[in-house]
Amino acid sequence: MSEQVKIAGVAATDLAREYGTPLYVYDVPQMRQQMRDFKQAFENRDVAYAVSYASKAFATVAMYEVVKQEGLHLDIVSGGELYTARRADFPMENISFNGNNKSAEELQMAIDYGVGTVIVDNFYELNLLEDLLKQANKTQDVLLRVSPGISAHTHEYISTGQVDSKFGFDVDSGQMVEAVKLALASEHLNVLGLHAHIGSQIFEEAGFQGVATRLVELAEQAGFVPKVLDVGGGFGIRYTEDDQPLPPTTLVDDIITSIETATQARDLPMPEIWIEPGRSIAGPSGYSLYTVGSRKDLPGMRHYVAVDGGMGDNIRPALYQADYEAELAEPADDRETESVRLVGKYCESGDILIDEQTLPKLEPGDVVVMNATGAYGYSMASNYNRNPRPGVVFVENGQSQEVVQRETYADMVRLDHHYEL
Ligand code: LLP
Repeated sequence: MSEQVKIAGVAATDLAREYGTPLYVYDVPQMRQQMRDFKQAFENRDVAYAVSYASKAFATVAMYEVVKQEGLHLDIVSGGELYTARRADFPMENISFNGNNKSAEELQMAIDYGVGTVIVDNFYELNLLEDLLKQANKTQDVLLRVSPGISAHTHEYISTGQVDSKFGFDVDSGQMVEAVKLALASEHLNVLGLHAHIGSQIFEEAGFQGVATRLVELAEQAGFVPKVLDVGGGFGIRYTEDDQPLPPTTLVDDIITSIETATQARDLPMPEIWIEPGRSIAGPSGYSLYTVGSRKDLPGMRHYVAVDGGMGDNIRPALYQADYEAELAEPADDRETESVRLVGKYCESGDILIDEQTLPKLEPGDVVVMNATGAYGYSMASNYNRNPRPGVVFVENGQSQEVVQRETYADMVRLDHHYEL
């Protein structure tokens, strides 16, 4: 039996009617719960920790406000995200700044704003930050990002922990030890510890256990006692029934146990443990609402059904062959089902949202809800074909609010100038 789709208690069709489609909608209570679950997992084990929301997954003022309310920290990777954090009045001391090529302007901005921790990625940045701090006569807490030499089983584009990666200090060639030495010798850098991130959409406990243990080994190798070990993010979520994510409690437990075991074996004190989940916080609670338009039936072959969005609001299927599931917003027990390819409106054959799924026979005007689009959907959206980006709506307590306005055609030309030469 199919049912009417509700998001945090509000009918998807009502949201589509009120705000139009395509539309991003977030179930805020579900998102809060996920944040609390991560925190609770640490509280249960009574270890010092920080859960830092990796905001590249979904960065808006309203989202940062929810993160702040829930007492999580924030991980940012650009001046734009930092600016957004300031707009949300986010406590700067609870922000960490990641990235492999932060500009002098971005680092200066971090210093001026008082960002808590800079996660230094490479020698260029180490020197640049040192110079800027010297000029400002300030000190800065830092973590050093290492490339831990652990490959996680995920899509090549979102795997980051392997040796051949653009991120972090290499270990085998001695770069990591050298970086720790330089940073410890600096008057302006306060080295809290090490950071690693092995990739994204990871399901195996072994990957997280591996990186946790490895960070302790690396600190020992570099000859210092870390106050903080940051194991990054990457916790996998359920997009389709093929995905079987472990709950945060299990994964956090594994991380804690691995670090505990490795530090005890070396007679080292237990460090603070930091994690940076992005997708697992924003992903499952986000939905994309579309309206069905045209179709093309290839007899005996395939049914294409097109919706009013596509690769401009969700590039993940085209970029990573990511799978999603969709459902019809209204109950449709009276309809026949058919196997369809759900496509978008963009002028590109690769603009496929769902390669193949059996759905009730869709008709023009139907509202379709695509699940688990909350991470890397809005944040990777584009104006390809000069399509305005959808708005974002938060739902909580039976109420909805537009937290990002839908773009207009006027926005499409807002930064354009007439040619005058
Ligand atoms: N920390 C660091 C240093 C990262 O590079 C990332 C993700 C995260 C944390 C958060 O990872 P998460 O928990 O969200 O998996 N656009 C791709 C994902 C790129 C992830 C980049 N880094 C996608 O749509 O799948």
